[in-house]
Amino acid sequence: LKHFLTTEGLSREMLTEILDTADSFVDMSAQQVKKVPLLRGKTVVNLFFEASTRTASTFELAAKRLSADVLNLNIKTSSTSKGETLKDTLMTMEAMHSDMFVVRHSDSGAAHYIASNVTPHVAVINAGDGRHAHPTQAMLDMLTIRQHKGAFEPLTVAIVGDILHSRVARSQIHALRTLGAKEIRVIAPTTLLPRHIEALGVTVYTDMLQGLKDVDVVMMLRLQKERMQSALLPSESEFYNLYGLTEEKLKLTHPDSIVMHPGPINRGVEIETSVADGPKSMILKQVTNGIAVRMAVMSMAMGGQMTEHQAERGSE
Ligand code: CP
Repeated sequence: LKHFLTTEGLSREMLTEILDTADSFVDMSAQQVKKVPLLRGKTVVNLFFEASTRTASTFELAAKRLSADVLNLNIKTSSTSKGETLKDTLMTMEAMHSDMFVVRHSDSGAAHYIASNVTPHVAVINAGDGRHAHPTQAMLDMLTIRQHKGAFEPLTVAIVGDILHSRVARSQIHALRTLGAKEIRVIAPTTLLPRHIEALGVTVYTDMLQGLKDVDVVMMLRLQKERMQSALLPSESEFYNLYGLTEEKLKLTHPDSIVMHPGPINRGVEIETSVADGPKSMILKQVTNGIAVRMAVMSMAMGGQMTEHQAERGSE
């Protein structure tokens, strides 16, 4: 890995290496993530231009477990509020000898833009850009599925809700396809489906009762209201009736099915509280897995960066 910007186009071997590396950071007997010295002496800067609880916190924890120095730039109180551009902010942070930027931004493509504008020794990890991609979320979801289901090949997976605005859904679909899931279904009203979504290799259902039949994994999504024009906002109660995951609807899935949600969850909008907190729910396990997966991605990216940097030096 050099940068980690998307799951699209990465090989099955690369995705499997991320999952295996994440597993290697978990002390199974203590059920804890180990502290290792892999990034000692390195500086990781978290640049979150959009709100986050899970991703920002687990990236910080992951960097600390890798023994890096971590700097969380508070965007609200930073000089971006005085009009400093993104590029100048990045150059300023680079001048502090940063080795890695973890970036969340509301603009699709922001992480790619940053990756193509940083100096070559800096690694960039995408922590979510607009509607485009949230690759570490997808990978922690894949780790959670692998832990509970073993292989991907026999699995039918349903992704439910606001597909249109979801960077998580896109990254999940690319990862699930590459890892060989048998069938990927998307379940949503037509107003919340991107055009030509079938081209990504998914089966579309607008009827949740049909779409949930016998699925092994149900991945719910949040209604991304912050990305919707207010006139197009669906009624929450209508959405819940048709697309909310209730105990009744869950009975349609395979008896051993699991329920996932990237969070934050809206109880009573996309998921019933008793399902979110129930025995099939992996929601908090997903959060925990975020630490090991982010450690894996950061250490692999920095390993790649160090190798390239050393190679450059060797040829000087
Ligand atoms: N799943 C996710 O990205 O959550 P946060 O917005 O809290 O980081």
